[in-house]
Amino acid sequence: MGKIHSPQSRLFTEEVPKLPSTRYLGSKRKIAHWIWQQIQHLEFECFLNAMSGTAVVGYLAKRFGKRVFCNDILAFNYQVALALVENDSETLTPAEIELLLTPHPDIDYPTFIQDTFEGIYYLQEENRWLDMVVTNINVLLENPYKRALAFAALGQACLVKRPFNLFHRKNLYIRLKDVKRSFGNKTTWDTPFPAHFRNFVGEYNSLVFSNGRYNRAFNKDVFELELDEPVDLVYLDPPYLPVRGDKPDYHFFYHFLEGLVDYEHWSERIDYSHRIRPICYTPSPWTDPDRIRSAFERLFEKFHKVKYIVLSYNSMGIPSEEELLSMLRRYKQHVELKKKPHQYVLSRDRPDELLFVAY
Ligand SMILES: C[S@@+](CC[C@H](N)C(=O)[O-])C[C@H]1O[C@@H](n2cnc3c(N)ncnc32)[C@H](O)[C@@H]1O
Repeated sequence: MGKIHSPQSRLFTEEVPKLPSTRYLGSKRKIAHWIWQQIQHLEFECFLNAMSGTAVVGYLAKRFGKRVFCNDILAFNYQVALALVENDSETLTPAEIELLLTPHPDIDYPTFIQDTFEGIYYLQEENRWLDMVVTNINVLLENPYKRALAFAALGQACLVKRPFNLFHRKNLYIRLKDVKRSFGNKTTWDTPFPAHFRNFVGEYNSLVFSNGRYNRAFNKDVFELELDEPVDLVYLDPPYLPVRGDKPDYHFFYHFLEGLVDYEHWSERIDYSHRIRPICYTPSPWTDPDRIRSAFERLFEKFHKVKYIVLSYNSMGIPSEEELLSMLRRYKQHVELKKKPHQYVLSRDRPDELLFVAY
């Protein structure tokens, strides 16, 4: 029988920590260890992952014993950070998983997803399943970390069953067309939701651990984030706006996951005039070539007192690497730039991944 490690001892026995699997645009999962190699020698204890997305970088910092704050403007990402970074010990038991996957005669299940998204993202029987499971999570789970684990697993299950892993198009037909495919994964799309859900809960359960620090997750616009305690390293990974190509509109791409975690209010937030039924939102400066430079200025200004500012960006983005270097030099004496060739999930280009380390 293999040696059983307590959650605490697991921290010290793994040299290359396992990271949660994800299908998220701009996720640093594949290069998180490279990022860590560039910064691990720096003297810091408290790590702020200020635009944390899947929270993989914050999770890695937690693995290496740092105190971690994660923040993202999207409520779904907040649930992931709650589940994997703030959560020290709660997991979903096999009995709770079965409870979530079973319809209960005493619960009156709403039909919101079936009524609103028919023919858009999933089959109607899958929409019915989603209405049931999300209601079970809300009604049957009280513990916020167990709920967060359930939402994180449910969101991943939703992502893997979507062409392109996004919710930006009414393209259920791509899944259903009987043609030879050069992309996508029909087996994954056709695997039933409960099987995906069980897999992701199993995976996420196995990643829960305590590093002995008080780690926290937040769901704020980064410009409004106020922490009670100082941090000594802020890691910034804003949406990457390419010189050419699609805008990284995270609210638009992931609106369905935002709705799932706010099921009760989802109907009031939808733009019904739009064929994909997105949640209404204020356009972001990070998707606007005319406003993105001032957004970077504001970001650096906001964090200029933090000992280390570490920024991920891309060599084919707006602003350019020279512009970012000169902006950072206004706040910090030393600015180092590290580069790594990196291919984004949906891109044919092969730009460099940039990592600015300013102090
Ligand atoms: C490139 S992704 C981050 C990816 C992340 N490092 C990872 O590995 O998954 C950019 C993130 O910034 C978030 N974001 C966009 N505008 C934001 C804002 N104003 N405040 C906080 N987060 C924001 C998006 O929701 C998205 O998750």
